[in-house]
Amino acid sequence: MKWVGLIFILFLQNHLVLGAKHYLFKTCEQSGFCKRNIHYAHNIEENYYTIDSFNIDETKAYISGNLIKSIPQGEISLNWQLGIVNGGFRFTVDEERHVKGIVNSKRFSPANEFNIEYVSRDQVSIEKSDILHISYNSTVIKVYPKFKIEVYDDKKLTMQINDDNLLNFEHYRLNNEGQMNTPESDFNMFQDDFKDSRDDKLPLGPESIALDFKFKGYQHLYGLPEHSDSLELGDKLYRLFNVDIFEYEINSTLPMYGSIPFLLAMNEQSSMGLFWINAADTYVDVKHSNQDTSTHWISENGVMDFIVFTKDSNRDIQKKYGDITGFTVLPPLFSLGYHQCRWNYNDEADVLDITEKFDEYEIPYDTIWLDIEYTDNKKYFTWNENFPNPTRMLQALDHTGRNLVVIIDPHIKKDYDVSNYLVENKLTIMNSQNSTYYGHCWPGESVWVDSLNPKVQQYWDSLHTSSGFMGNSSNVHIWNDMNEISVFDGPETSSPKDNLHYGGWEDRSVHNINGMKFHEITYDSLIKRQQETTRQRPFILTRSYFSGSQKTAAMWTGDNMSKWEYLKISIPMVLNNGLAGMPFAGADVGGFFGDPSKELLTRWYQTGIFYPFFRAHAHIDSRRREPWIPGDPFTSYIRDAIKLRYALLPVFYTSFYESSINGAPVLKPIFYDTGKHFDIEDEFYIGNSGILVKPVTEPDVKEQKIILPESGKYYNFVNGIPSTVTYKGDETISIPVTLNDIPMFVKGGHIIFTQPRYRRSSKLMVNDPYTITVFLDENNKADGDLYADDGESFNYQNGQFLKVHVEANESRINFVVENSWNAKYINKVIVVGKDIKTFNVKISLNGNYTFKFENQHIHELIHDEL
Ligand code: NOJ
Repeated sequence: MKWVGLIFILFLQNHLVLGAKHYLFKTCEQSGFCKRNIHYAHNIEENYYTIDSFNIDETKAYISGNLIKSIPQGEISLNWQLGIVNGGFRFTVDEERHVKGIVNSKRFSPANEFNIEYVSRDQVSIEKSDILHISYNSTVIKVYPKFKIEVYDDKKLTMQINDDNLLNFEHYRLNNEGQMNTPESDFNMFQDDFKDSRDDKLPLGPESIALDFKFKGYQHLYGLPEHSDSLELGDKLYRLFNVDIFEYEINSTLPMYGSIPFLLAMNEQSSMGLFWINAADTYVDVKHSNQDTSTHWISENGVMDFIVFTKDSNRDIQKKYGDITGFTVLPPLFSLGYHQCRWNYNDEADVLDITEKFDEYEIPYDTIWLDIEYTDNKKYFTWNENFPNPTRMLQALDHTGRNLVVIIDPHIKKDYDVSNYLVENKLTIMNSQNSTYYGHCWPGESVWVDSLNPKVQQYWDSLHTSSGFMGNSSNVHIWNDMNEISVFDGPETSSPKDNLHYGGWEDRSVHNINGMKFHEITYDSLIKRQQETTRQRPFILTRSYFSGSQKTAAMWTGDNMSKWEYLKISIPMVLNNGLAGMPFAGADVGGFFGDPSKELLTRWYQTGIFYPFFRAHAHIDSRRREPWIPGDPFTSYIRDAIKLRYALLPVFYTSFYESSINGAPVLKPIFYDTGKHFDIEDEFYIGNSGILVKPVTEPDVKEQKIILPESGKYYNFVNGIPSTVTYKGDETISIPVTLNDIPMFVKGGHIIFTQPRYRRSSKLMVNDPYTITVFLDENNKADGDLYADDGESFNYQNGQFLKVHVEANESRINFVVENSWNAKYINKVIVVGKDIKTFNVKISLNGNYTFKFENQHIHELIHDEL
C-alpha cells in the first residue's frame, strides 16, 4: 500500500511538473463573453435582428444599411455593409459608440492590415425585393430581412449564415441598464471574476460578437491554428488567443502562441473559406452533422468583420486569401538550411567550436542561434562579456557561409537606456490608467514596447542599424520570441486585457495582432539596415503570429517536449499552418523540454528535414545533443538526413517560390490535391515535386504503412535514393524500415532537381550543378520545374531569377527556360523507368534545348532533328 501511495505521489508530481498549467487559462465557462454566448446558443428561439434599410454604391459592389436589434426596451441601430471582393464577399456590422475616457471606444478591426478591395459595380447584379439578391459570377448571395444570409454556388446552397440565430452583437450599455433579451445571460458583463483578472474593470462592458456559419455539403474543416491537435478540426471548441503556454499538451484546443482566424472547408469536389477578421480573444465551436459543418464564432469584442470565400478549388481559395493577407516571404536560401540552436551557446569559443565540429563530422549547417543568455543581464541590444567581439565572431562564421540569429524579445528590462527611452517617450504598452505597464519576464521587471505605436519604428530602426549591436555584418538575423506577449505575472501569462496600446486601444481589442506587429517592426528595421549594408533579405523567426505574419516571418511551434507524441503531432501542426497561409513553419527538432533518446533524436531529424523551417533547439536544462553527441550509428543517420535536406534544397526553394505567388502550402497533406483521405495527417507531398513522405514517428518501427493516394505508379525513393521498385497507386502499401530509413516515394511523372554535392553550407552550393532525376509515369512521361536565384538579395524582383520547365519521355528531354539568369547547369540526368540510366552531361540552363537519350549517351537535337 505504502508503495502504491508513493508511486501515486510521484506520478502526481511528475504530472504536475510536466503538464500544461490549466488553472492559468480561462475555460469558456470562466470567460464572460464565451459563457454568455454559449448560453445564448442554448436558449435562443427567435431572431432579434432585422435588416432595416440599405444603400447601394453606384461605383463599387458595396451595399450598406441599418441592422436593427430588438430588445425589450426598444431598438438598437447597428450599421452593416456587404461588399463583393475577388472570390467572395465581406460583411461587417458595427455600432456608433462614443464613450468619454482614455479607452478608444470605437470597435476595432484589424482589416487595415490587409488588402481588401471591392470589385467594380458592373461585375455584380443586385436585385432588391423583400430579399436582397446579389449575383457575382456563379454565386448568388441572398440577404433576408429577418437577418440571415444564404450563399448559392451554381444554384446549390453552400452556406447559411445566422440560420441558427446565433448572431449576438452586445451593444453598448451601462451597468444595470438591463438591456437584454430573454436568452441572454449577464455573466461577467461588467467584471471578471477569474482569479487572475479580477482587476479588469471591463470599461466598455459587454461587447462581444457572435455568429453562426453552416458549410453546406462540406464535412472537412482545416485551419484555425495554433493548436496542438489533429489536422482536421473535430467537434470541439477552439480558442484563438495568443499566449505563452508552458509545457503545452497535445490533442488540445487550448490556445497557443499564434492565431489565424481562417478556415478552409473541403469536400471531394470543392472548397470554401472563411476569414473572421478579428484580433480579440475568440472561440470557434465546430459541429459536424451529416454532410454539413456548423461553426459558431464568438469574439470578445471588435467590429464584426468577415470574408466568405465562395465555392472554388482549395488552391484558388488559398490564392485569394493570400491576395488579401499576403503571401509567404521568399526566404533567403540559408534559412531553408539547417539551424542549430540551444538555450544557450555560451560564448564565442562555444559558437566557433560548434561550427568546427559540423565540419569535422561533415554535416552541413547554415545557422547558429543565440538565445537570451548572450545579452548583458537580459538587456536586449547588448552583448555580455562572453561575446567580446561579435563582429569577429560573425566574420569567422561568414568564412564558411554561416549565419547567426540572435534573440530580441519585446519585454525590455527596466532601467537601462532602451527602456528609459521607451518610457520617457511613452512608447510602451500602458496600464489601464495610461501609465507605463510593468510586469515580469526573463529580465525581471520589464516594460513592453508598443509596436502599434507608429513612433516606435524610428527608434526600433536606430537599435538595429549597422552602428548598433548588430554591427555591419550581413550574416546576422533576428528571432522575436515571447511576443504574445508573455508576462510571467500577467493573467493567462499575458497582458492584462485592459492594458492600453497606442490609439487608446485596449489589449482586449488588439491582442492577437500584437505579436505580428512586433515582428513587422523588426522586419522594417532589418530592411533599412540591409539597405545600408548588403540588400540581403532579412530572416525573422516569430513565436506569436496572426494572419499576415507569413509576409515577413517564419514561425515554430514553441516549447514542445522530447517525447514521441510531440514528434508525431508536429506534422499536423506544421501542415495546418500551411493550410492557413503560414507555410514557413517548423517544430523544435529533438523536443525543447527533456532529453530525447538516441532513437527519438534520429527519427526527429529524419522528420525535421521536411519541416519548411528546420531547426534543432533545446531547453537550458537539457543535455547537449548536437548531431555528433549520440555517436554512431545515430550520428551517421542524422548526417544522412541533414545531407538529404541539403540535396533537396532546390525542391524546397522552388516550392517556396510557388507558395510566395500562389499561397499553396510547401508541405501538402495528401488530400490537398486528391480530394481523398481527409483524415490523413502523417503523410505529405513536398510542394508539386511528387515526393511523398511518411516519416517514422514511433519507436521501434520495423514496417511502415503508407497510403499512395493517387492512381498511377509510385517509385520507391527511400532516403532520397531513386529505385526502379514501383508500387501501384491508390493503395496502401507496407515497406520494411530500419532506423536509417526515411520512407519516401515519388509519384511517376515527376522530374526532381537536386544538388547532392556535400558542402558545408547552402551559400557554398550556389554554383553547384544540378542532378535531375526523371521518374517516368505509366505513359513514359514526366515533367518538373525549378526556380532559383541568388538566394539572398531582392534582385529576383527585378527579373534576376531562373525558371525552368522540363518535360521528358523515355527518349527525350526538353528544357524550356521561362526566365533565364546566370549560368546554372546540370551535370547529371538520371532517368528512372524500368531501369535506371545515368547520363553525365553539362547542360547550361540558359536557353531552350531538347536532348535525346541514346544507349549510354545523350545528345542535343538541333533544328530539323526536333
Ligand atoms: C521561450 C521559447 O519558446 C524558447 O524557445 C526559448 O528558448 C526561451 N523562450 C528562452 O528564450
